[in-house]
Amino acid sequence: MDNAFGEPQSILLLGGTSEIGLAIVRRLVAPTTRHVVLACRVPSAAEEQAAAIRRQGLAVHTIAYDAADPAGHEAVVARAVELGGDIDVAILAAGVLGEQASLAASPSEAAAAVSVNYTGGVSSALAVANRLREQGHGALVVLSSVAGERARKANYIYGSSKAGLDAFAQGLADDLHGSGAKVLVVRPGFVESKMTRGLKPAPFATTPDAVADAVAAGLRRGATTIWVPGALRFVFSVLRHVPRPVYRKLPLDA
Ligand SMILES: NC(=O)c1ccc[n+]([C@@H]2O[C@H](COP(=O)([O-])OP(=O)(O)OC[C@H]3O[C@@H](n4cnc5c(N)ncnc54)[C@H](OP(=O)(O)O)[C@@H]3O)[C@@H](O)[C@H]2O)c1
Repeated sequence: MDNAFGEPQSILLLGGTSEIGLAIVRRLVAPTTRHVVLACRVPSAAEEQAAAIRRQGLAVHTIAYDAADPAGHEAVVARAVELGGDIDVAILAAGVLGEQASLAASPSEAAAAVSVNYTGGVSSALAVANRLREQGHGALVVLSSVAGERARKANYIYGSSKAGLDAFAQGLADDLHGSGAKVLVVRPGFVESKMTRGLKPAPFATTPDAVADAVAAGLRRGATTIWVPGALRFVFSVLRHVPRPVYRKLPLDA
């Protein structure tokens, strides 16, 4: 359980090699944190990151988790609890961007990417939420994206999966209201991470550390939705009303 200073004792990262997810974990780890669980497709791939966080009194575990295997998600959460006790903060960071043109050319690959981001996100989040409800406390941080705010031709397959995840997470937050458990929806813009490596940065591009700072501040003040950077909230409140023929032509390719 978070201590009197709001410091988490136990943190679960779903997508244990995510650069944004790891930055959030590093930002949330406090002197009193006892357990971090990095759940990833290939647990050995997170060993280096685990070693960098591990210290005396802070155990860092790596466990198997495949977002594309919803049938396994309750067991992943149960394993995390077995290793680290009650979950104070869980971060849902697993996701794939994919290359729009290739995905559009391959319906089955598009469906697979969307399944990781949306279907897998739904079952992972529900598995965590059911546990948080039972505990009566804890926060779930969901990595959505501004790409879900309004679909655009440059990445509408990814964007539509994030729109679904975002809508789901908002409903989940309301469903959990009063239970003691909370959901924080995070809508970053372009973040320089391995997901975007080689792509031209979009306006308002930011870093995993900046997202982590915003998440930590959001959790502290009990926010339900944050944009990173914050200015994107105002940018997208305008963009979502731009007429489609104009929107289509805007240089929003990155
Ligand atoms: N970077 C951005 O510009 C940006 C902007 C807005 C939102 N986001 C969202 O933020 C989250 C984290 O992204 P990031 O920037 O940190 O990118 P990242 O470093 O590439 O992290 C993505 C993570 O998803 C994991 N993953 C992919 N498929 C998986 C599966 N089937 N099962 C389990 N894990 C899987 C990857 O694991 P592997 O190591 O096994 O591939 C990786 O750990 C994502 O949900 C992303 O959509 C990113």
